[in-house]
Amino acid sequence: MEKPKNCIIVIFGASGDLTHRKLIPALYELYRKDLLPERFGVLGVSRTRLTDTSFRKQLAASLKEYTANDSTDTKQIKKFLKRIYYLAIDTSNAGDYQKLKSRLKKLDKEYQTHGAFIYYLSIAPSMYEVIVENLGLHGLQESQWREGYDKRIIVEKPFGYDLESGRSLNKKLLKVFREPQVYRIDHYLGKETVQNILVFRFSNGIFEPLWNRNYISHVEITAAETVGIEKRGKYYDQSGALRDMVQSHLMQILGVIAMEPPSTFESSAVRNEIVKVFHSLPAIHPNEVANFAVRGQYTKSKIQGEIIPGYRDEEHVDPFSRTETYIALKVFIENWRWGGVPFYIRTGKRLPTRVTEVVIHFKSTPHILFKQKDQHHTEPNQLILRIQPDEGILLNFGMKLPGAGFQVKKVSMDFHYSDLGDIPVPQAYERLLLDCMMGDSTLFARGDAVEACWGFVDPILREWQENPDDTIFGYPAGTWGPRQANLLFGVPGLDWHYPCKNLVEDALFCEL
Ligand SMILES: NC(=O)c1ccc[n+]([C@@H]2O[C@H](COP(=O)([O-])OP(=O)(O)OC[C@H]3O[C@@H](n4cnc5c(N)ncnc54)[C@H](OP(=O)(O)O)[C@@H]3O)[C@@H](O)[C@H]2O)c1
Repeated sequence: MEKPKNCIIVIFGASGDLTHRKLIPALYELYRKDLLPERFGVLGVSRTRLTDTSFRKQLAASLKEYTANDSTDTKQIKKFLKRIYYLAIDTSNAGDYQKLKSRLKKLDKEYQTHGAFIYYLSIAPSMYEVIVENLGLHGLQESQWREGYDKRIIVEKPFGYDLESGRSLNKKLLKVFREPQVYRIDHYLGKETVQNILVFRFSNGIFEPLWNRNYISHVEITAAETVGIEKRGKYYDQSGALRDMVQSHLMQILGVIAMEPPSTFESSAVRNEIVKVFHSLPAIHPNEVANFAVRGQYTKSKIQGEIIPGYRDEEHVDPFSRTETYIALKVFIENWRWGGVPFYIRTGKRLPTRVTEVVIHFKSTPHILFKQKDQHHTEPNQLILRIQPDEGILLNFGMKLPGAGFQVKKVSMDFHYSDLGDIPVPQAYERLLLDCMMGDSTLFARGDAVEACWGFVDPILREWQENPDDTIFGYPAGTWGPRQANLLFGVPGLDWHYPCKNLVEDALFCEL
């Protein structure tokens, strides 16, 4: 495989959680697999007083903790860490960028990177604009225009707080960098299983003809988490599930599921098709929000003898908070392919199991031949694309039960990634860091797509903000969220796909 050109990765937020838990382990894995360029270096930047040596020592410990055991070869780690450097500066202080500039000049010479720097904003979003501005002020965004040696910037989500701040961030980024230099990372797009949706759809002849309103009745996209908000109360209480999960990750999955086939697998061709999906989402009218969105918040419960605190009892959460930890949405895509097909999207914390999946529900047969004993009809086919865990694809269909009569039973054909044997599935950050080094932005969110996603969720956020008394439903931790979410289907008998049962019996649901 072709390797990227020499480069230096500058990580802003080097002493932080993401750097230690994801970025350095991902870079190490790439190094171990010999996928990095001959000459590449990393410069970590944050305020904590550290030297190159003390930073490397900390990273060595993190690598032991966060990489697979079979990849912790001490000698190799040492060689890798020799390429990592540290600079203590305050990134809100414009004067400090002179230090950054001179350090980069030295590293550029040593690594022969011809000015190819990748700036990674692994720092609080409130710092994004000031860093970008200061990089611009010091000419640190200017490329030398040598083929393949470009300056790039990777921005972590959240890309703004609402439509207005999302637009403002884009504006500030594009005042300093050109759009092709900007890589907005959504690690869901870096997941093998999300990329596999593209391969599944566009490399198999048999599914694409069925992938439309004529054969599909509805689609579900679920991202369920068993954890609560952990130590992120301060962030989460200002954010909520709609901003944290839907605006970014789940909308990207929706884009990949619903897009038209691109004419080539070029970045702009793929991203043009994805953004068209977002532009086809009708804005929800404020009076209609309750008909299309159900929000919930987990309440205290007892799971297998253990007391699970309610959201309002979590650290740094307002005891009267109306922030949603669960959201279910009904979405229509107004275009030729999907006209009239509802897409149901739900995500929540403290649900009974951790699962991210897409369930495609096909229409029933036009005529029912095999009447079942207790049902009016046989179950329609379902295709389940399991994104995590137990990544794979499952097709449900009806088979005859052996014996007298024509009893139909639902069975499945399934593929699990684990069936591929010992081919390791790379972490999302590995894939995305390598793609950025190669200058391939296909799996990154483009500015117009981010704004289009904000454009869709913004009316819902505004409605809740302007009417704080709008209903929010309590659901006991360990259940599948408020029962009112089922009403979104509006068809008797239709319900969500539940990969497992509630963990709590006799749960008490209430309005908060
Ligand atoms: N952690 C995750 O799993 C995760 C997942 C998805 C997205 N993200 C996003 O990634 C970003 C980083 O998250 P994180 O969890 O790593 O945050 P974090 O642990 O709080 O780290 C923040 C980093 O920023 C540095 N910093 C803060 N103010 C600074 C300043 N004025 N000058 C220089 N450095 C400064 C801090 O170092 P000093 O205190 O030493 O200066 C620290 O290294 C956030 O935007 C977050 O939303 C994180």
